[in-house]
Amino acid sequence: MSLLHNFFLFYFLFPLIIQAKSLKINPINPFFEDDIGCEKVQYPSEILTPLPYLKECLSTIDGLVVYPGDPYYYNSIKVMNCRYHYFPVVVIYVTTISDIQKSIHCANTLNISVTARSGGHSYEEYGNGGRSGVMVIDVQEFNQININFETKKTAVIGTGNRLGTIYYNLYKAGFLLPAGYCLNVGIGGHATGGGYGMVGRKYGMASDNIVSAEMVTANGTFISPINSNHHPDLFFAIRGAGNAGYGIITSLTFKIYPIWPIVTTINLAYFSDQIELAFIIFAKVVKNLSENLNAYIFLMPKNNNNSYTLSFNATYLGSEDEARSVVKELIELSNPAYIKFEEMPWWEAVKKQSPPFNRQPFKVTSYTIPPQGLSREAIRFLLNFINNMECMTAVFFDVYASDAISRIPVNSSAFIHRNILFVMELETLLDGHSKNVQNMCVKKHLKFSQGFQEKYTSYFCYQDYIDKDLPDWLTRYYGPHVPRLIETKKKYDPDNLFNWKQSIPTELP
Ligand SMILES: Cc1cc2nc3c(=O)[nH]c(=O)nc-3n(C[C@H](O)[C@H](O)[C@H](O)COP(=O)(O)OP(=O)(O)OC[C@H]3O[C@@H](n4cnc5c(N)ncnc54)[C@H](O)[C@@H]3O)c2cc1C
Ligand SMILES: *[C@@H]1O[C@H](CO)[C@@H](O)[C@H](O)[C@H]1NC(C)=O
Ligand SMILES: *[C@@H]1O[C@H](CO)[C@@H](O)[C@H](O)[C@H]1NC(C)=O
Ligand SMILES: *[C@@H]1O[C@H](CO)[C@@H](O)[C@H](O)[C@H]1NC(C)=O
Ligand SMILES: *[C@@H]1O[C@H](CO)[C@@H](O)[C@H](O)[C@H]1NC(C)=O
Ligand SMILES: *[C@@H]1O[C@H](CO)[C@@H](O)[C@H](O)[C@H]1NC(C)=O
Ligand SMILES: *[C@@H]1O[C@H](CO)[C@@H](O)[C@H](O)[C@H]1NC(C)=O
Repeated sequence: MSLLHNFFLFYFLFPLIIQAKSLKINPINPFFEDDIGCEKVQYPSEILTPLPYLKECLSTIDGLVVYPGDPYYYNSIKVMNCRYHYFPVVVIYVTTISDIQKSIHCANTLNISVTARSGGHSYEEYGNGGRSGVMVIDVQEFNQININFETKKTAVIGTGNRLGTIYYNLYKAGFLLPAGYCLNVGIGGHATGGGYGMVGRKYGMASDNIVSAEMVTANGTFISPINSNHHPDLFFAIRGAGNAGYGIITSLTFKIYPIWPIVTTINLAYFSDQIELAFIIFAKVVKNLSENLNAYIFLMPKNNNNSYTLSFNATYLGSEDEARSVVKELIELSNPAYIKFEEMPWWEAVKKQSPPFNRQPFKVTSYTIPPQGLSREAIRFLLNFINNMECMTAVFFDVYASDAISRIPVNSSAFIHRNILFVMELETLLDGHSKNVQNMCVKKHLKFSQGFQEKYTSYFCYQDYIDKDLPDWLTRYYGPHVPRLIETKKKYDPDNLFNWKQSIPTELP
């Protein structure tokens, strides 16, 4: 979830996007046209003098290849967060497996690090490498969505697809798959690190629903299929750590499910003085709610106009009558100030629950909240912090408590966050502030974060809400699987071609 709000305009271009022609002609990224508080930047020419032989080496690529100095360069490096600016030596919009293999060959020959990019929504701009000087392999032309109409149980999804395009295409055919709320997130970077969202309590994480994958590895080998029988070590790694440097994943095959003919959105909202009670009740009641109910909780700082500062946004798979009875106890005990139920088709609910957002500078940290929830003291500590921040800071709680997520053994994939109540996401928006204030806000955020985590949450953090300032991140993201993930990395990428600050290393740090 994310609060990257655009208060002006948000429209859905999916039919257009689906028909969009090859980006070979014009790579302007329609998803990042508008931004809030992103500075205009210039790549440092003294650092990025053209690499000898690179153009020559890449001359037989079929897809569009963009270098610094090319007209589309600045558009080709736009990603969701614009807190930092990193300048790749080349962005390659690969169109075929052979394009990827040729690109990787050149990178190996010329000693350039490689990063895969799908939707560009990494919180730390890892889609651009998280530093300057890398080769970005953008997979957005790998955009197939092939439903298996015989079995009606799986679909092959190209990793260049955005969640909205996938939801919409599956919806038209009568299906859904479990994935995140934000429609512009790329499936390639999302499902491979977990992926929580619209039907997570019902069907688990997106990564839990991957049954097969295809990938180009560091020596240019195309591996297909990767599944429980073929390359089981990679299959284990890519479900939770697939966005952490094993190769360029080109397609993922997911389990799919029939859509519900009708769903009901539920919005409960609370005033500031109701928050403590509401959280105590959530912790008590939420794990026992029907798994047809999927929800996130949104907490905002106190304001001067006496509006709601806490909201419980849910989608119930079923009718309003059923939805009302499912949350009856929750409503009676927590006494919301605002209650709204609305029946609609699945696709309308998907759009409604997706918060509008914009490209902007921000900082995010994540926490896993144990089954007993947050203590009153923890809630006060959190409220005191967000109510006194100079920059807008808000909190999302993704409701994980469910059989679908917790019944899967921790050892069945690289994704470990199973028996928890919430994943909490603390988000500080930096637009509208000077660089000094931005830096101060981030510093405060991180200081609070450390204290809060030490005292009130579990040790672990969610890798899709990636945070490069996190100490001991390997263990916090991957728990007991770190040695196993390093072994697999060593096997498939011994020279660490795919490397950045938080990629899986080739040896224990
Ligand atoms: C507005 C917003 C809303 C979000 N909402 C949710 C949500 O509801 N639920 C949730 O779980 N998460 C959510 N997230 C987090 C999101 O899941 C991660 O940021 C995810 O990694 C983004 O994937 P991407 O492909 O868009 O990003 P990218 O920046 O393109 O990639 C992210 C990482 O994955 C790697 N990667 C990308 N493609 C591939 C590939 N084909 N093969 C191998 N590695 C690859 C990249 O190298 C990079 O390290 C949200 C993020 C944002 C910005
Ligand atoms: C490759 O580049 C890295 C830094 O990017 C450098 O440390 C290393 O020595 C280089 N290797 C060769 C063989 O040039
Ligand atoms: C949990 O829900 C079931 C039915 O859905 C109900 O019978 C049971 O009493 C509930 N338990 C608690 C602790 O609320
Ligand atoms: C109330 O205040 C908040 C933050 O101060 C603001 O975001 C919101 O738009 C305001 N609501 C109204 C109805 O004015
Ligand atoms: C939650 O639901 C309300 C009402 O439908 C909606 O206005 C709001 O944008 C949703 N999302 C968040 C983050 O509050
Ligand atoms: C799970 O795997 C870890 C190593 O990855 C191992 O230490 C642990 O014993 C395993 N647990 C079970 C229950 O198999
Ligand atoms: C390339 O790497 C794969 C593992 O990813 C390995 O099986 C294969 O032998 C390697 N091929 C060459 C030519 O080195």
